[in-house]
Amino acid sequence: MLKESKIISKIINNSPIAFFDSGVGGLTVYSKLKKLLPDEKYIYFGDTKHMPYGEKTEKELLEYSDNIFNFFLEKNAKAVVMACNTTSSIIYDKVKDKYDLKIYPIIQSSSNILAQLPVKKIGIFATHATVSSNAYKKEIQKHNPDVEVIQIACPEWVHIVEENKINETQSISLVKEKLDEMMHYFPEKIVLGCTHYPFLFDILTKFQPRDLFIDPAVYFAEFIKNDLKQQGLLEISQGSEEIFVSSNPETFKKSAKVFYELNTPPKLVTFD
Ligand code: DGL
Repeated sequence: MLKESKIISKIINNSPIAFFDSGVGGLTVYSKLKKLLPDEKYIYFGDTKHMPYGEKTEKELLEYSDNIFNFFLEKNAKAVVMACNTTSSIIYDKVKDKYDLKIYPIIQSSSNILAQLPVKKIGIFATHATVSSNAYKKEIQKHNPDVEVIQIACPEWVHIVEENKINETQSISLVKEKLDEMMHYFPEKIVLGCTHYPFLFDILTKFQPRDLFIDPAVYFAEFIKNDLKQQGLLEISQGSEEIFVSSNPETFKKSAKVFYELNTPPKLVTFD
């Protein structure tokens, strides 16, 4: 017979890992963790109704996330992945002790590695909210004060991805415009500091080499895997996934396809 603590740990291990973002962007993180840990149960919530998060206030983001965290608590999640740079920079500090949930924020969990890259100048593309918070700059310079950090906001890029306009000529010009602006500063690496931006690799690499760009999700997924392992929270069973959105499930499925083919159609969930 299993001892009580073993039973509890078994129940926790068996619980899902939950992800959220304003839309399809967080799939760039989810797809990587799923590859590393295929035997886990996953829940993904895309808050498409309130997209773009990068243009929202702290109060609004706290309101949306409260519903999302409560939804994850009902689903008995064992951890929540903030697969969103904007919420990591604006509200993580406010929510980290508010819920009985282990929360992984993308910026704080990957900046240590970014700070150790053998470069002196890093460019950051991110949303307005992330850029104004200076979260990347603060986190990277906390680990390495010698790195210069240049930040440029690209709010239009989220719409290109969510509205599935990656192949449109106007989208290519919008991406190139910001890239040209960044290249004036001669960055040695450019961090895609919004989870939607790796969807634009095809456009970005038309103009600059692939290895100039960093998708922090690579480090983030590795960090989550190691941390769950350290805490004895990994599950070895049959993996599963459930995807939820707060509006337009069909558009989500189409836009997601560029990066991630959904096994199941997203389910619609509304909190109001
Ligand atoms: N993908 C999110 C981020 O990483 C939010 C983008 C948005 O909705 O503005 O910041």
